Amino acid sequence: MRILSGIQSSGKLHLGNYLGAMKQHIELQHGHECFFFIANYHSLTTIQDAALVRQYTHDVALDYLALGLDPSKANLFRQSDVPEVTELAWILSTVTGKGLLDRAHSYKDKVAKGITPTMGLFAYPVLMAADILIYRSDLVPVGKDQVQHIEMTQDMATHFNATYGREVLKRPEAKLNEALIVPGVDGQKMSKSSGNDIKLFDPPKETRKRIMSIKTDSTPIEAPKNPDACNVFALYKLIATPDEVEALGQRYVAGGMGYGEAKTLLAGAVERLLGPARERRIKLAADPDSVEDILADAGKRARAVAREIMEDVRDACGIITARGSHR
Ligand code: TRP
Repeated sequence: MRILSGIQSSGKLHLGNYLGAMKQHIELQHGHECFFFIANYHSLTTIQDAALVRQYTHDVALDYLALGLDPSKANLFRQSDVPEVTELAWILSTVTGKGLLDRAHSYKDKVAKGITPTMGLFAYPVLMAADILIYRSDLVPVGKDQVQHIEMTQDMATHFNATYGREVLKRPEAKLNEALIVPGVDGQKMSKSSGNDIKLFDPPKETRKRIMSIKTDSTPIEAPKNPDACNVFALYKLIATPDEVEALGQRYVAGGMGYGEAKTLLAGAVERLLGPARERRIKLAADPDSVEDILADAGKRARAVAREIMEDVRDACGIITARGSHR
């Protein structure tokens, strides 16, 4: 099984990124061949500031490594270290009906949020399909919001193969994460663009303040509370141990506990999760050369796979390049 996923480097990562995607990626490194990449070409659809693009690309690498991605088990690399994906994206775009892209929810959502509707934003799913197909990936672990993109990828693979009468590209499957929705401080799905996120590596004091600001209802302290209707509890469930969750749930139901106390417990669980990672991150940040080596090595391995598949792709569609130009 070859597993592949990408994460956009478009800002500081938050708990929703970790619980919704990265955690699953890190668990999958045991027992599978994994390719995880930092989607820096994709980030250009929303960030056009070179220093920020560089910074966020590096930050995502630090975050993954600090949170437990083991570079001897999984390949963590930059999308741009395999520039062939942009070539495949072009070729795929020539077998992809415009109508398919017109139906993309994420494009409409992004434009509704005020992101400039460039060709890059519109063609985002084509580049994403290239990311997946260029490694003949079997499984793509993603959140629910990305499932449509995986379906489009399947369609593009089918169209390419049908157009050229060969099974060149492998149809991947989505692997949905169980942590379907991670609520933000306002109870809506946590996302950077909604401004309701809790960053992974803000200073601990800042993180605590964010947790204390989670929206709750105004049930008085003495009254029994419904844990299943509470944003604090929903986050706690994703982070604390089953025993802790059970215990806090009982306290909600019994009454006599205020939301402030629940938030303090949540802040403790978050710190337990992120504290050791924060320490590792500080060490990694002090050693940028070794991080660069990790990315570069994995990028080379990924590129070797991609180049082989691109030979089949070019051959299938009759694109000739000078001999040796892809070594
Ligand atoms: N679109 C994905 C997201 O926003 C990131 C991404 C880019 C990706 N290319 C990918 C995810 C390929 C999986 C596979 O989360």
